Amino acid sequence: MTDPKPSFLARPAVRMGLIAGAAALGTILVMALYQSVSTRKAEARQTVLRLVDITERTVDPAEWGKNFPRQYDGYLRTAEKYSTKFGGAGSEGLPKSRIEEDPRLVEIFDGYAFAIDFNQRQGHAYMLDDQRVTKRVTERKQPGACLHCHASNTVAFREVGLKNGAPGTLDEAFTSPNAQAQLMKGFEEVCKLPYNEATKLVKHPVACIDCHDPKNMALRVTKPGFLRGIDALARSAEPVPHLPSIEKWRKGDKAAAYDANRDASRQELRSMVCGQCHVEYYCGPKTTLFFPWNKGLKVEQIEATYNDYKFPDGHRFFDWKHAKTGAEVLKAQHPEFEMWSQGIHARSGVSCADCHMPYQREGAIKVSDHQVRSPLLNISRACQTCHRFPEEELKARVEAIQNRTHALMGRAEDAVVALIRELDAAKKAGVPEEKLAAVFELQRKAQWRVDFVNAENSMGFHAPQEAARILGEAIDYGRQGQIALKEMQGGSWAAKGK
Ligand code: HEC
Ligand code: HEC
Ligand code: HEC
Ligand code: HEC
Ligand code: HEC
Repeated sequence: MTDPKPSFLARPAVRMGLIAGAAALGTILVMALYQSVSTRKAEARQTVLRLVDITERTVDPAEWGKNFPRQYDGYLRTAEKYSTKFGGAGSEGLPKSRIEEDPRLVEIFDGYAFAIDFNQRQGHAYMLDDQRVTKRVTERKQPGACLHCHASNTVAFREVGLKNGAPGTLDEAFTSPNAQAQLMKGFEEVCKLPYNEATKLVKHPVACIDCHDPKNMALRVTKPGFLRGIDALARSAEPVPHLPSIEKWRKGDKAAAYDANRDASRQELRSMVCGQCHVEYYCGPKTTLFFPWNKGLKVEQIEATYNDYKFPDGHRFFDWKHAKTGAEVLKAQHPEFEMWSQGIHARSGVSCADCHMPYQREGAIKVSDHQVRSPLLNISRACQTCHRFPEEELKARVEAIQNRTHALMGRAEDAVVALIRELDAAKKAGVPEEKLAAVFELQRKAQWRVDFVNAENSMGFHAPQEAARILGEAIDYGRQGQIALKEMQGGSWAAKGK
């Protein structure tokens, strides 16, 4: 035992073997890693592997889904119902009613279709069905223009345009002059059709083709109202630092229209695709649908655009005559793009898609979540990529903003309702309409502002200070109207305001 054998591991042959083994193992590991990397690369390639040929005629999202199954899967899941404190439409069968939740709205919308049916929004999967069944459509006459934002109509518009004499064929690239002529002609024609006829032309809610170029999947905007509206905005003098491509276009000769599909950056398009629909608009029977952006995106700029706008019959723009007071008033609808434009996130270059379609990792692939929904259901991916606060804290910050907006909005609605009641009392007391003209203007201003915040769907989050500013003005105009009435008649006939 005095001649100890070298330990087993120290024997040269064994060492050689070990080294060789390690090398082999290393090789195997490297091979395995390579294998894995290349399968991932192959997976990544698969997302652009064309299993089916997609063209400017392919409306059905299921066809696109064969090439892009992950995005299609998310898209289908917009049918999932949910509720947050202020978001979603509830998980029950029917969406929650906004006018049952807040009966003041019935008084504010008196004489207009929104007083009979107005629900919380739900997922994109429902947009066409919800429109077809709303009492605003079944019990009132509506134009084909309603479909602009509730269906995939890129192809339908072009087909109708072709039938009405627009040049070219459906195969031409969307951005070609012929295709644009088809689109705009068809849009004008479909807007004029009665809703029940126009709705037969479409089959799907918003679809891949409305936001993507079938050739290379690049983002694009296809809705005529947006294409025209964003050009009108570009031609205005209003600064839009959050849309740098517009600022750049303004420095040119402006000979060609601002064209988002040519001029906008990818990051801008990540909001503009949503701005095709989540905006204030006019879509009545009197003229073709338009986005009122000629003077800018702020509440008073849109109001000024409407005030300057004359219908073909020469009358100043209004949405309806208030049934109680007779004032010619305005209805606001979902100005998400406009409110976002006034907020710190837009100013910091944060897009709608950053929060509402955040990336999710699947293996080596980054996929945009096509289940468009409330970011509060998904704070880790929607917010924590930029904010390193705990989830609970971020949620609490959002709710603090929303609770404050909600409370102030309640006060503003009270002010508007009080003014409506007193105007009604004044009319009943026999005050002549001419004397009330200035107060009708105050009702118009007050109710337009409160509605702008109420119809905006983030309950103040997209631009907290702007929402508070607008509500402050609404309260002021409402109360100014009451004071004017009191001064006019010494308050003798006026009902006790709330
Ligand atoms: C910084 C993140 C962020 C950005 C950017 C953003 N949003 Fe939102 N959005 C929110 C939050 C938070 C809510 C409130 C969700 C809730 O109450 O559940 C919300 C609510 C909404 C809602 C209502 C959602 C629901 O569940 O009912 C819509 C619609 C919406 N946003 C559209 C847009 C559009 C369109 C844009 C771009 C023009 C945009 N948002 C930009 C964070 C964002
Ligand atoms: C073609 C028009 C259109 C486009 C484009 C569009 N939306 Fe919508 N969006 C709607 C309509 C209509 C609804 C309401 C559907 C309903 O209530 O039936 C809706 C609902 C929503 C909701 C509420 C979801 C829920 O489950 O409650 C969110 C959030 C939303 N949209 C965000 C976005 C964002 C972000 C974009 C851009 C990536 C976008 N939308 C693009 C028309 C559109
Ligand atoms: C410019 C785009 C646009 C046009 C035009 C449009 N909508 Fe919508 N609509 C939306 C968006 C965005 C939502 C989701 C946000 C919301 O509910 O506020 C929505 C929601 C709805 C809803 C579900 C919530 C509710 O209000 O009950 C109905 C129903 C509806 N619209 C009917 C109509 C009708 C009827 C017309 C024609 C008079 C019309 N829409 C025209 C964009 C549009
Ligand atoms: C309302 C607009 C909208 C619709 C509708 C839409 N997408 Fe997208 N899609 C986006 C946005 C925004 C992005 C992010 C693009 C970017 O940042 O370049 C995106 C990205 C993609 C990408 C690139 C990879 C990724 O995930 O970021 C693919 C592929 C894609 N979408 C497929 C589809 C398919 C398939 C459909 C239909 C089932 C569809 N999209 C419907 C807005 C939309
Ligand atoms: C792409 C980055 C990005 C994303 C995603 C993002 N934010 Fe922000 N957020 C910012 C920036 C930048 C600011 C500006 C202030 C700053 O620099 O911190 C900001 C500001 C804020 C503020 C302060 C608002 C104010 O008026 O001062 C709040 C609250 C906030 N974010 C909440 C959220 C929530 C909630 C989400 C998710 C729904 C979110 N953010 C998603 C970048 C982002």
